[in-house]
Amino acid sequence: MAARRTVPTVRSSKRRFGAAPLVMVTAYDAPSARVATEADVDMILVGDSLAMVVLGYDDTLQVSVDDIAYHVAAVRRAEPNALVVGDMPWMSFHVSPTETVKNAARLIRAGAECVKMEGGTKRVPMIRSIIDAEIPVMAHIGLTPQSSKVMGGFKIQGRQASEVQALVADAIALEEAGCFALVIEGVPDVVGRMVTEAVSIPTIGIGAGTDTDGQVLVYHDLIGLENRFKPRFVRRYGSAYDDQVSALALYASDVRTGAFPTADESYQASDELSEALGLYGSQPGDDERPDSSRSPGDRPSTSTPPDST
Ligand code: KIV
Repeated sequence: MAARRTVPTVRSSKRRFGAAPLVMVTAYDAPSARVATEADVDMILVGDSLAMVVLGYDDTLQVSVDDIAYHVAAVRRAEPNALVVGDMPWMSFHVSPTETVKNAARLIRAGAECVKMEGGTKRVPMIRSIIDAEIPVMAHIGLTPQSSKVMGGFKIQGRQASEVQALVADAIALEEAGCFALVIEGVPDVVGRMVTEAVSIPTIGIGAGTDTDGQVLVYHDLIGLENRFKPRFVRRYGSAYDDQVSALALYASDVRTGAFPTADESYQASDELSEALGLYGSQPGDDERPDSSRSPGDRPSTSTPPDST
């Protein structure tokens, strides 16, 4: 059985100090959390990407603390060894420190072991209030999807020297505020490296190059269930969408041709029940046409006992 990951084990996983790269994946329900556990990932992020890959919205702004808490609880029921990170959705940490702490506590009570918050230096006061309440915080900078309206879409960040300096300053401020790890998303690889070198907490990259202390991908992207867009940073390790279409198409065809279910996939009545229903001793064909002449939907039913007189 793989070791249970905790905030301190993740906090100490810096590659330059000899640690192996950290593996994080999103998951939103118990089956995907069981898969992630079996695959021995280090962290499961119940991300607000839920809005896009599960709930069908065009951005991440549509999910609430209730939504994330509901999905955190489902992930927790899978009893993962991975550290479960609950994403603080848009507007859950923007109003007041009191609201922020209460919202973070909801995710902890639902089963998260820490929370993730998007934003740099300007979020430090809210981050401090959560850490003061003994809730560990993972930061998230660079392309922060909750700022997509301000950024004019999901745009790569850190293209100008001044932006890079600001990102490095943000990373340092977030470490000083007490964050135990930092997601860096959608930046040129050199920026991923500079941010990683600037801090002693582990950085987890997504579209941030090869030099971060770990990587995170969205579950549906990596298994190939989300097949509409494929950003450059996504590597598909499966073709779940195509596999599932094939499985469902085969099922539909089998139902329509009568190939599913067979007698082996059906429950047989006991002798006593058959006798009580007047079925005992009846021969196949006494009360029904032969299989070859049966049309789909025209199945024998035990709810109408055959006339045995
Ligand atoms: O919500 C999410 O899935 C995320 C990752 C992309 C880091 O924030």
